[in-house]
Amino acid sequence: MTNTATAGPASPAGRTTGWIRTPHPRPHARARLLCFPHAGGAANAFTALSAALPEDIELLAVQYPGRQDRRAEPCAADLRELAEGVATALASRSDLPLFLLGHSMGALVAFETARLMEEHGSVARLFVSAARPPAQDWEEPDLTLVGDEELVAGLRRLGGIPEPLLRDPEIVAEVLRLLRADHRALLRHHCAEGTAVAAPVTVLLAAADPKNSLEQMADWARHTTGGQDLVTLSGGHFSLVERPGESGPILTHRVREDLARPARAPAPAPEPTEEQPLADLVREILLDGLEARTPKLPTDLTALEAAAREVMSPEAYAYVAGTAGSGATGRAGREAFDRLRLVPRMLRGTRRTDTSVTLFGQRLPVPVLLAPLAAQQVAHPEGESATARAAAAAGVPLVLSTFASRTLEEVAERAGDQPRWFQLYLPSDRAVGESLVRRAEASGYSAIVVTVDATHLGFRPAELDHGYSPFLRGTGIANFTGDPAFRAGLPAGADATATVLRWAQISTDPTLTWADLAWLRRLTRLPLLVKGILHPDDARLAVEHGADGVVVSTHGGRQLDGSVSAPDALPGVRAAVGPDVPVLLDSGIRTGSDVVKALALGADAVLYGRPYVYGLALDGRRGVEHVLRCLLTDLGLALALTGCASLADVGPGLLLPREHVSTYALARTTSDTLGSLGTPENGDRR
Ligand code: LAC
Repeated sequence: MTNTATAGPASPAGRTTGWIRTPHPRPHARARLLCFPHAGGAANAFTALSAALPEDIELLAVQYPGRQDRRAEPCAADLRELAEGVATALASRSDLPLFLLGHSMGALVAFETARLMEEHGSVARLFVSAARPPAQDWEEPDLTLVGDEELVAGLRRLGGIPEPLLRDPEIVAEVLRLLRADHRALLRHHCAEGTAVAAPVTVLLAAADPKNSLEQMADWARHTTGGQDLVTLSGGHFSLVERPGESGPILTHRVREDLARPARAPAPAPEPTEEQPLADLVREILLDGLEARTPKLPTDLTALEAAAREVMSPEAYAYVAGTAGSGATGRAGREAFDRLRLVPRMLRGTRRTDTSVTLFGQRLPVPVLLAPLAAQQVAHPEGESATARAAAAAGVPLVLSTFASRTLEEVAERAGDQPRWFQLYLPSDRAVGESLVRRAEASGYSAIVVTVDATHLGFRPAELDHGYSPFLRGTGIANFTGDPAFRAGLPAGADATATVLRWAQISTDPTLTWADLAWLRRLTRLPLLVKGILHPDDARLAVEHGADGVVVSTHGGRQLDGSVSAPDALPGVRAAVGPDVPVLLDSGIRTGSDVVKALALGADAVLYGRPYVYGLALDGRRGVEHVLRCLLTDLGLALALTGCASLADVGPGLLLPREHVSTYALARTTSDTLGSLGTPENGDRR
């Protein structure tokens, strides 16, 4: 690790030109990432990160005056001087999209540079690492008053300079000279509240950085009009440069994501399949096959899990794929769908199939939404942001989890003008709950799905065996860290650990009762669905307490091991609430036929879960798109092959009566078993 100003010249392969160095020139680059070092640092701090970037991203590193090959020049008196020098040096390099990345003090120089550059052009994104927002007090001591020994001890605590270098008196003298000079410039720096750049800002915060807390990072949002988001790195203050294997891919994904993004919100989703040939995807794949190209990912939606397991860390796989206890309920969902048999009808003229459905006044192209799976960054660095873009492209709403790893505001931006719903875990701190709901309303989420089956997380051996929870490692709490009501409950300067602890204390509420649902009902005018219902009486209670719909779900088998499966519970719930209350189902759906079976049992739509996160793990946004295209093509074909021209044609009659028991009677039996009877008329609602 060669982080210091004195640790040698630039990589021999690199070019050195005054302010800017290019450790690894990349002639085929599509974007440039200009990096600003920390106080006391030099351009070569970024050499390893540069090596970790792919061919399409060229890293440029800023060399401040006063060090290494620029030692003869005086150090800059203030940060603005540095920004001006860089902006001038860059004037001739406007041919590629430019991303700025500043580490620690370098983040302020990058911010000032972005301000200058935006006067004439634009900056695609500003990454800030291990740095407080510009208008915040950095609480830096005046280093001219701090003795050498104390300073070296501080450097040792922070990491970033190898111990042998810290024992070399000449090197230490040079490091301290630069550190003091750079700090003078830092202390002189002043940025007014409300000074903002147009570029979006991505904050990179290392979980164990002793200098910066999650709470402080939220204020970066005040310094951009382009939106702010936060990514957590493992390790300490110098993670960005010390762990290029982790930071490189994160930066690469963000850069590529920005490059791929159209200048404006995505075009409206295609209208429902009425006007589209059903099997576009099939034809496309088969034509590709004539040129010896085969799909990158499996088209068998039940095979994605095994493929994803190959690329996911064991912990991430355990979290996503894991179920509660013995896995009985997880398996039961699949078994129930496999057990059900469709009895297709023929010669009904189904060249076109209208798959659209209207829920709460919203017309959706298909009766499918993406289920609220938490902490998606465990599967892919872009997390829910990639999922939201894929979902928006397909016109399929993402139900965003409260425990997402990207903020609901960022996800809303990614969804553009496409519908999105918000899943709510009602926190025990109701002020935080109210704040989440208000933010969801303000960000255009059009329904609230309150989950009631996870007031305690289930006993999940796969996670436990790895001693792993994404949340305790800071992933999946993005909606909390910047939330004003959440932050109000934290002491000033709370570090990452304190933040996670508060999250763990308040993020769910084991005391919830139906009265709390009524409270939530009064809080918002958005359609309210209750998710995690299995008993018909609970479905009735949900409606009585103001729910507009229910989601029959076993939480993917992650909560109560041994519970009834969702498809087995569905007919009873439908019978209990009658034909007019929207009932959705999740837990076990994998294929288009499964969707048809769920609709035939009485669901209005389904939530689709793990397979899309496997797609995300396998190929980011494109992976999710692949999964959605496969599912929707399969669904369109399944409807056509059962003889349904629209969803109105799907009913219990499509299902094989089991053991001479009609589906309708099956609904009654289930209902009986669960201790509640629907009226016969309600069983057949179509
Ligand atoms: C889970 C919760 C957080 O199942 O939804 O992990």
